[in-house]
Amino acid sequence: MTLSNKKPFIAGNWKMFKTIPEALELVKEILLAVEETSSSEIVVIPPYTALSRIQDLIRDSAIKLGAQNIFWEEEGAFTGEIAPTMLKDAGCDYVVIGHSERRQYFGETNATVNKKIQSALKHKILPIMCIGESLEERETGKTIEKVKKQINEGLEGINPEEVEKIIIAYEPLWAIGTGLTASPEQAQEIHSYIRSKLTEKYGNKTGSCAIILYGGSVKPANAFSLLKEKDINGALIGGAALKSESFIEIAKEAIKAYEEK
Ligand code: 13P
Repeated sequence: MTLSNKKPFIAGNWKMFKTIPEALELVKEILLAVEETSSSEIVVIPPYTALSRIQDLIRDSAIKLGAQNIFWEEEGAFTGEIAPTMLKDAGCDYVVIGHSERRQYFGETNATVNKKIQSALKHKILPIMCIGESLEERETGKTIEKVKKQINEGLEGINPEEVEKIIIAYEPLWAIGTGLTASPEQAQEIHSYIRSKLTEKYGNKTGSCAIILYGGSVKPANAFSLLKEKDINGALIGGAALKSESFIEIAKEAIKAYEEK
């Protein structure tokens, strides 16, 4: 699969929410709006338990499936982990790697993020690598330094053609689940930095084609102004992705914003 930022990329990270029946219900509702949202790339990222059941529903549609985590080994005695082949088997095209909640509560580091990215790429699963600064880092002027380190170490040893298959999600920690959103200007500043960093490291093509998502309290009311920014190519949505109305509305706002860019 090749990636393009010619249309907005709208992904719903359901985190640890939804039983199987609830998950199927939500996907059925999203499927009803598939035509209205067809000018965007829609990805649902449910908990593991619902993956293959959802895949059965979306198989023939434009909606794509993602997982919230991955392990780097092929198989083995790793209780509680999930192998890349298992995600492939369940129908995943995408996988979130290094979400701030995994870094914060489950000890993930740039080094483990790097191993996971390499493993996902090897199995043709497209990584969505999450990066972002804490409130303290922002307030002490360390945002760029943090993001730079996460990019350098997370992408260590990955060649430009492979980097083109990686989506970057900028999710400032202080904006996740807090109702506080980065302003479009604040988000654009970091997105532009990320793109320039990719260009500097991997060349013009990789930089200009990169899909860079914003995440952190995205909702229908702020999606348009965020997505209208030059370097914001989509959204990674938590809370507002748990209801079909708000998720679909965000996709429609993103499409409008892209039309006006
Ligand atoms: P919220 O949209 O709930 O702030 O979550 C963002 C997020 O973490 C998506 O991965």
